[in-house]
Amino acid sequence: MPTTVRTSRDPLSQVADLIVVFLAQPATVTGVAAAADTALDGVIAAAIADNEITGEAGTITVFHTAGRVSAPRVAVVGTGDGSTDAWRSAGRAAGTKARALKARKVTLAPDDATPDHVSAAIVGFGAGNYRFEQYKTGKGTPVVSALKVASSTLTTAQARRADQLVTAVQGARDLVNTPANDLTPTALALHAKTLASATPGLTCRVLEHKDLVRLKAGALLGVAQGSAEPPKMIVMRYTPARKARRGEVLGLVGKAVTFDTGGISIKPAGGMEEMKMDMGGGAAVIEAIGLIARLGLPVEVVAVVPSTENMPSGTATRPGDVVTAMNGKTIEVINTDAEGRLILADALTYAARIGKATRLVDFATLTGAIVVALGEVYAGLFGSEAEWTDTVRAAGEISGDICWPMPLHPGYAPLISSKVADLSNASNKRQAGAVYAAQFLREFTDGLPWCHVDIAGTGMIGGAGTGFGVGLMLAIAEQLSDRA
Ligand code: BES
Ligand code: MN
Ligand code: ZN
Repeated sequence: MPTTVRTSRDPLSQVADLIVVFLAQPATVTGVAAAADTALDGVIAAAIADNEITGEAGTITVFHTAGRVSAPRVAVVGTGDGSTDAWRSAGRAAGTKARALKARKVTLAPDDATPDHVSAAIVGFGAGNYRFEQYKTGKGTPVVSALKVASSTLTTAQARRADQLVTAVQGARDLVNTPANDLTPTALALHAKTLASATPGLTCRVLEHKDLVRLKAGALLGVAQGSAEPPKMIVMRYTPARKARRGEVLGLVGKAVTFDTGGISIKPAGGMEEMKMDMGGGAAVIEAIGLIARLGLPVEVVAVVPSTENMPSGTATRPGDVVTAMNGKTIEVINTDAEGRLILADALTYAARIGKATRLVDFATLTGAIVVALGEVYAGLFGSEAEWTDTVRAAGEISGDICWPMPLHPGYAPLISSKVADLSNASNKRQAGAVYAAQFLREFTDGLPWCHVDIAGTGMIGGAGTGFGVGLMLAIAEQLSDRA
């Protein structure tokens, strides 16, 4: 069950397993922290005097209350320099501690912090409190079921936004972490259908194998042909009750390879289990459009998620095979492990031509090269148009899903050329691997403003999904709504 956020008053009189107060650096006791300190006979001030509490962002100290306030424990969390990032890591520390303490009811007491800071703390709390324990028999500790937030600034609508964002991020992480024998393309499509039927304004249509044949989606079909699991192109559409800008349609595209063996160009065995997470972009897109719809944002959105396995078999695509993408371009498949760009090619064409998107952004665990370049901190951001790329980058900074700009340039075009077809999907040159992939995708964007976010590093950390992109897509949709 996901965390539910409610607003409340008088934090110290709350019935809770844990009450969390916040202190900036350098630490001083003011506001609700001072009230807690008084109730606890000066322990917080004493810990500050002894330098045990510094207020450094993300540090946490837990005190037993021995009945002096209604909750058995009070946690003091540092908010460092008071930035949104620091509030997010403070919330994350509280969420992680609440999990360790098996707390079910938690009250956050951020006092008069700004709504953005309180929201960041809630979202951080949700991230820290999350565990994936569905497959541990009898061991799962439930997440915090009741999160109360005693804030003098947060409105009910803002609390709901944070709560829904937590739910969507946790939903994306569950999808990413679910093993590939359970999360097949069929299961992912069913999840999207269920989400849409529970959400007003949201529809879902799943394109089956026969539909993909009719649409001539040869790039997606070529990847899928090695697998016994049928491919799906999941198409979701959110039509708001009130439109921001007539004719503006945000197109979200997400790679959902439910397992990437590499195909005939098979990957080495070590770590291959992590390739169950090669659908992180698609999971984020599905949860994000659900979130945007639940929040009723005034922006029309179409989401296109191509989903397949990438398997080696007697029916699999061979290196050297040529496939024809939905937009008519021919592609020589040099390396069957460069499958993400193939399925995205047809999804981008679909989003632009049939989905009628007016601007595009895709999310994909696309290249090992972006992990080498940027690690697990920044996603790689590529874009065809400065204004749109700036919007996406700014949304990253707002949400904490941060993206670093990477180049596209005609000088890279020789990388994607083929001797026999219009394009090749991979080169043997070990050069600019992440740029190569982006330059390839651009061929399928129909000249629309487009951004590509490579989340191979940020989407999976420590063998688990992060939900990267959900908050970013919400922030993008909010920016488009504000421009109305
Ligand atoms: N899914 C992988 C990329 C990936 C690697 C994601 C590591 C997360 C962690 C992708 O399909 C892939 O295999 N890319 C190849 C492309 C190459 C064959 C041109 C890569 O990056 O090695
Ligand atoms: Mn691959
Ligand atoms: Zn892949």
